[in-house]
Amino acid sequence: MEKRLHAQTKGLRGTIEIPGDKSISHRAVMFGALAEGRTTITNFLEGEDCLSTISCFQEMGVKIERTEEKVIVEGAGTNGLLEPRRVLDVGNSGTTTRLMLGILAAQPFHAVVVGDDSIAKRPMDRVTIPLRQMGAVIDGRDNGRFTPLSIRGGDLNPLEYVSPVASAQVKSCVLLAGLGANGVTSITEPHLSRDHTERMLQAFGVELVRDGLTVSIAGGQQLKATDVHVPGDISSAAFFLVAGAIVPNSELTLKNVGMNPTRTGIIDVLQAMGADLTIENERVENEEPVADLIIKTSNLKAIEIGGALIPRLIDEIPIIALLATQAEGTTVIKDAEELKVKETNRIDTVVEQLNELGVHIEAREDGMIIKGKQRLNGGTVDSCGDHRIGMMLAIASCLTGEEVVIQRADAINVSYPMFFEHMNKSNVK
Ligand code: S3P
Repeated sequence: MEKRLHAQTKGLRGTIEIPGDKSISHRAVMFGALAEGRTTITNFLEGEDCLSTISCFQEMGVKIERTEEKVIVEGAGTNGLLEPRRVLDVGNSGTTTRLMLGILAAQPFHAVVVGDDSIAKRPMDRVTIPLRQMGAVIDGRDNGRFTPLSIRGGDLNPLEYVSPVASAQVKSCVLLAGLGANGVTSITEPHLSRDHTERMLQAFGVELVRDGLTVSIAGGQQLKATDVHVPGDISSAAFFLVAGAIVPNSELTLKNVGMNPTRTGIIDVLQAMGADLTIENERVENEEPVADLIIKTSNLKAIEIGGALIPRLIDEIPIIALLATQAEGTTVIKDAEELKVKETNRIDTVVEQLNELGVHIEAREDGMIIKGKQRLNGGTVDSCGDHRIGMMLAIASCLTGEEVVIQRADAINVSYPMFFEHMNKSNVK
């Protein structure tokens, strides 16, 4: 689908209800499926990625019902999943792939995992290496580095794993496999990645021990169903936070934004750049902090972004790159080589697509160097099948009076199906 944006705007104004968090929605379905009892999920993100998770678990015999306001999961228990008759199709979703592989590793049956062309390029050895060490039998393309993958799980040995990457998907995969192992499994990461798995497993009655960058889990624990209310996704809010800060004459209120400290790197960046941002109504819902955010057009200055901050804003870097084009000075993004193995190589896609709109960004091996302030022009760009590139380009269109055409804009449905509706609603024409 091609989207034509006549982004003439007198500013972005109004209130946006931020849709449910993608990471938390996936986990609520998976943990609900493994639990004993019924889990009711509210504010579930109806994005394509999370729907892939639902259909994979339905394929393994889990009863999952969707209504307008909720998703009801009838838990099968840790031993109740059934051997799937068909391949498990993860679509575009890395989270479904890697977390589900951890669950499958502990199941005494065979399964085949496939996804789309983007998934087929993403490294799976980061999870197949530890899972094989625990005893799962895995085969797949390029000796199990890429999908399609086949896995036969069963009796697992515990593992003390030191992960070379700060990845919540790797951490969650190992912890979920550890639930089915004979003993205590631990994972240590180089920097803290998002901790939704740890928080939600605890809400489902599982005991975990954290010691610095190491988390341990004892095998054999049962999950007890609990209701989950999903907070708004800060990674979706990020597009409107940046839009509010850089589009002249804007003021946006973003409601129900998840403020888990492992995810709030974008807030730190906006504050360090000098953005006019107010945090209101801070509260905790279901083990997760939540707040409302008010952002106004701001005078921004460049900053340096790297180190432990990177995992706290990894999904926001495409929109932070656009933000940096409107900040006075030179912004440096470093230590972010993980960008190369996201839905696309996000260093290349950001640089190439913004270049089509007249923006110059220098690509680096581990990030980007961005000079501000730059003027944008209209043009034809491509999401490259990457939802976050598509949304970043749509926000970029608000900075030019000229037409911007976004090819493959439907990729946005992966994480934010209401995106254009929210953008239109807040656009003062
Ligand atoms: C996610 C973790 C991150 C993030 C992805 C969702 C999760 O990936 O980029 O969008 O839900 O655990 P990595 O763990 O691979 O960094």
